[in-house]
Amino acid sequence: MSDRTTAVPNDLNAFWMPFTANRQFKKNPRMFVAAKDMHYTTANGRQVLDGTAGLWCCNAGHARPKITEAVSKQVGELDYAPAFQMGHPKAFELANRLIDIAPEGMEHVFYTNSGSESVETALKLALAYHRARGEGSRTRLIGRERGYHGVNFGGISVGGIVKNRMHFGSLLTGVDHLPHTHDLEHNAFTRGRPTYGAHLADELERICALHDPSTIAAVIVEPLAGSTGVLIPPIDYLARLRKICDKHGILLIFDEVITGFGRLGKPFAAQRFDVLPDMITTAKGLTNGVIPMGAVLTTGAIHDAFMDGPENMIELFHGYTYSGNPVASAAGLATLETYREEGLLERAAEMASYWEDAAHSLKGLPHVIDIRNLGLIAGIELEPIEGHPTKRAFEAFLRCYDKGVLIRTTGDIIALSPPLIIEKHHIDELFGTLADVLKDLP
Ligand SMILES: Cc1ncc(COP(=O)(O)O)c(C=O)c1O
Repeated sequence: MSDRTTAVPNDLNAFWMPFTANRQFKKNPRMFVAAKDMHYTTANGRQVLDGTAGLWCCNAGHARPKITEAVSKQVGELDYAPAFQMGHPKAFELANRLIDIAPEGMEHVFYTNSGSESVETALKLALAYHRARGEGSRTRLIGRERGYHGVNFGGISVGGIVKNRMHFGSLLTGVDHLPHTHDLEHNAFTRGRPTYGAHLADELERICALHDPSTIAAVIVEPLAGSTGVLIPPIDYLARLRKICDKHGILLIFDEVITGFGRLGKPFAAQRFDVLPDMITTAKGLTNGVIPMGAVLTTGAIHDAFMDGPENMIELFHGYTYSGNPVASAAGLATLETYREEGLLERAAEMASYWEDAAHSLKGLPHVIDIRNLGLIAGIELEPIEGHPTKRAFEAFLRCYDKGVLIRTTGDIIALSPPLIIEKHHIDELFGTLADVLKDLP
């Protein structure tokens, strides 16, 4: 019998689940009760291979001893300390360790609790930075179609996923969007970075001409767009964005909530693509998903613009009760230590070609209209069932789950992003199971 009908705890009604088809799920729930390394355990004791690092966050795999111990110890030692006008050593230590691995030029860390909050923080910093320098007319924020920057108002305003925006009113004013870079006609089945599409960055010049650059504060993009279904940046695209931003005095923000912490074979995508933004938003892999925590990394120039005025004055009127929370900080330190000890921030580069071959072995299977990959990420796009978008990919998700493999789908795209500890035999199992499922898919 499927575990989706057994071992259901209590009543499922009260918990309104996020980004979930609640009624469908509650009729036939899928429950995880434990996890270790590359596997989850379901409520009836089945092992499920984690093809998604939870939600792009458990980069070191599950229940890693160093992180578990650090969290347990910290809870007993210092559970909480006020975040405003008080400090504790681990938050400072973690900031230093983050700067150690960050691209050269990143010098400061502002803590948040999630990717969404990191995005709000970066957008607010951009506006306040310009104002602090006497350029208060720079109030526009530029995002990109199909972008995902979390679910708060700033993030959905600069984001470009229609369903995430359309239900929530008029959003922020003064926002414009670059075109997305998805182009099946030119780029289908590209291995690694597409050669076509760098010119799409030049659309920023059109936006500058329309609004005048003196009104634009910042551009925010995911260096590799994940949640919309894995869009790999065309060669030279990000460098061109950087150049145009520099020309017009516009800040460039990389949202690295999923690309941060080794996903592309370097600590950050900025290093992988050799383009330095002014701010980097992070979360997820920062604590291996164990304790919620996010962080915005900024250049010295951004930070220093605020360090003016009398020293007894608060410089930035922004922050969260849990900014730099002690338990999250301990989890972050132990996570970075685990990444360092095991070489995980470079491991995606080592595994990338095996991963790429395995992903592209699905070419030619029914319904597969594109495969794209970089580092330890793959996107497999399926032809939607006419009149029923998302149904085909979701059915693949259910069938993989029943066969012991966790994948993620967004629209009709399968997005894979396993823990960075993945071994070749796991890669074989992941794509082998997916191939079996795709062969039979309606
Ligand atoms: C690029 C990006 N930004 C922001 C977020 C939001 O992060 P959170 O769900 O932690 O708020 C995500 C989540 O997937 C993301 O991929």
